[in-house]
Amino acid sequence: MMTSANPCVGLIGLAVMGKNLALNIADHGFEIAVFNRTTAVTDEFIAENPHTPAKLTGCHTLKEFVDAIAKPRVIIVLVKAGPAVDSIVEQLLAAGLDPQDIVVDAGNSLWTDTIRREKDYSGKLKFFGSGVSGGELGARFGPSLMPGGDPDSWKHLEPIWKAIAAKVDARTGEPLAGASAGKPVTGGVPCTAYLGPNGAGHYVKMVHNGIEYVDMQLISEAYLLLRSLLGLRPDEISQIFSQWNKTELNSYLIEITADVLQQKDPRNKKKFLVDVIVDSAGQKGTGKWTSTNSLDMGVPANSIAEAVFARCMSALKSERVAASKKLKGPLARKLRAGKPIIEAIRQALYCSKICAYAQGFQLMREAQNQYHWKLDFGTIASIWRGGCIIRAKFLQKITDAYQADPKLVNLLLDPYFRKQVRTGQEDWRKVVSLAATTGVPAPAFMSALAYFDSYRSAVLPASLIQAQRDYFGAHTYQRVDAPDGQFFHVDWPAADRPEVKA
Ligand code: 6PG
Repeated sequence: MMTSANPCVGLIGLAVMGKNLALNIADHGFEIAVFNRTTAVTDEFIAENPHTPAKLTGCHTLKEFVDAIAKPRVIIVLVKAGPAVDSIVEQLLAAGLDPQDIVVDAGNSLWTDTIRREKDYSGKLKFFGSGVSGGELGARFGPSLMPGGDPDSWKHLEPIWKAIAAKVDARTGEPLAGASAGKPVTGGVPCTAYLGPNGAGHYVKMVHNGIEYVDMQLISEAYLLLRSLLGLRPDEISQIFSQWNKTELNSYLIEITADVLQQKDPRNKKKFLVDVIVDSAGQKGTGKWTSTNSLDMGVPANSIAEAVFARCMSALKSERVAASKKLKGPLARKLRAGKPIIEAIRQALYCSKICAYAQGFQLMREAQNQYHWKLDFGTIASIWRGGCIIRAKFLQKITDAYQADPKLVNLLLDPYFRKQVRTGQEDWRKVVSLAATTGVPAPAFMSALAYFDSYRSAVLPASLIQAQRDYFGAHTYQRVDAPDGQFFHVDWPAADRPEVKA
């Protein structure tokens, strides 16, 4: 089974992503050893791919696998996030890994697990984390890769990561045909860069997924408004999305949505496939992690959380069906599907999307303070320009914004994005009001607008909350006319008593 070649890299886990990543690595001339728990899968994979540009070596045992790889070994692990990662690392150690060997967890692991694992395995091996985005095709022909870990290990990984990553045009920042054309890409700027130590790569991948949740939710809300309010058919909406894909909204998710909406039900060509799919969204947890982390750090990432809750709400299918018979909203009303309203929905989508990214970048800014990382936000946006699920034309604008001002406090404050929101906000407000008055649910549009309006408010009613807290619990408050850090309390029912310093 094992050949005499000395692969420089190994990969464990031959599910679709693992197989495709292994083929991508071999396409770029790196000999690779592969291992899968079920040996028949390994045998099949090797038999199905006899003529790869660099040799694939299938191994039946972890000992055989470890012995096959040249030192220092680079071993990519693509197994289910969680205990399976620790289990495979322990087995690799038992099979004879050296302290200089690098084990890369390329799954969607929780960044705190990556931080812990790096410490736990220190001295035994070098544990490294890398986010991988782009789905099956991305893995095969060019994903966006988000590596984080020991910088010396990165030196070994860098040539492989840069070779297999998606590429964008150096001048325009646009993805070079790869994943979509079904062939490996050479030349161009690779969509990968070292992001920082320990869990930095997995953290950035998690935020990518949080943004992915909002992006998908916003697109779905635009679809629902076009459908419910304007009475358009899925194939008509598909055409609108194709048009939008030629504007600032140009992105992979808009492109695939246009495709999805024109698909007919394979069982009944008179129906659209989207109409026979149960409206209950699944989730594997990365959006929830992003939202939980935003709550833990006190960073308002409303729209990301809203997108997770929208999936939770969608999953209450039977409750919603029962409630729909009892809870009445406004009478259904249709508007004429003219250009102005379609453009208003497009603007609402773009403005909301800007807010979602602003929230994601705020989260990363806070996380870097907590974990002492030095994240380069321009670079992060730049490696998302190609390969990943949220790849979009406007990521170039985010790169530009952070390159112009690396200390930018919030994306909304960048001159380009300020102008976009200034241009679009009247339409955005119109669409949110329409959704509210017609009873069409648009939680992410609404939450993004609330984020924008709250963020631009010098004064919020939190003074009243502080007063209430002091009233019922003597929790104290600060005064606008006293130095920051001084706290006061009054005996509320008799507020004419002197205020005391807390
Ligand atoms: C990616 C995707 C990928 C996965 C999502 C799906 O970047 O390639 O994000 O990681 O498809 O995690 O997540 P849900 O099942 O939670 O929608």
